[in-house]
Amino acid sequence: MTTSLRRFRSMLDRSFRVPHCSRIEREPMTDLTPEVHFSGIAKDYLSMAERWPLSWIRPREMRAVLELAGDVSGRHILELGCGAGYYTRQLLAAGAGHVTAVDISAAMVEALPAKKVTGIVGDAALIKITEKYCHILSTGMLEFVPDPAAAMSNARHHATDEGRMVVLMPELTWGGRCYRLYHRRHGLNIRLFSENEARTLFEASGWRIDAIRRVAPFTMVFALRAI
Ligand SMILES: C[S@@+](CC[C@H](N)C(=O)[O-])C[C@H]1O[C@@H](n2cnc3c(N)ncnc32)[C@H](O)[C@@H]1O
Repeated sequence: MTTSLRRFRSMLDRSFRVPHCSRIEREPMTDLTPEVHFSGIAKDYLSMAERWPLSWIRPREMRAVLELAGDVSGRHILELGCGAGYYTRQLLAAGAGHVTAVDISAAMVEALPAKKVTGIVGDAALIKITEKYCHILSTGMLEFVPDPAAAMSNARHHATDEGRMVVLMPELTWGGRCYRLYHRRHGLNIRLFSENEARTLFEASGWRIDAIRRVAPFTMVFALRAI
């Protein structure tokens, strides 16, 4: 490994590390699941967004997500893979009436805001909710799920016929490879997507692409419409 790559990796380590999961960070584990990993960092997840590089990436991603989400005033939104509620809070601040927020990690769901939010612990690919939604959001989840097509089909099942969805996912770029390397170091294998793979995935699961925004160094944000 070159010195500059080694330096970059150690810089990422310093930025993303939280004290109580330093053992996980240093000892690669092959059987770590997203649920275990994210539960371990749930308490610090929001504050991690304040440190570089997330402090640089997150606000730019957020602007793209909110732009593509459009007017959410008064809407009841379904959020899949909500984490500790970074976007849940943004949606409520943008006027959303209520957010039903789903995550596979119970610790993440516990960190959600209490008001105007229904938190559900569940797998986005399997969960069944009786309601249908005009607006669905999923940011940074698809790369962790074993079957992204099942998660997207299940999202379509929960959308109205005119339903819209915004999806944020990592692209197969050099920045995406660094992001994958970061997760590989603590034993998680994440998926990176090309635009064509994403298009095929969406179309096969009942969605068409209305708009795309790219946020350097590795983020693609899609506005989808139900078909
Ligand atoms: C990178 S975090 C993003 C969290 C949040 N969307 C955000 O932008 O801050 C990915 C989240 O997806 C959740 N997740 C992973 N696999 C999932 C699944 N199959 N179903 C639901 N949530 C899942 C993780 O627990 C984690 O909270």
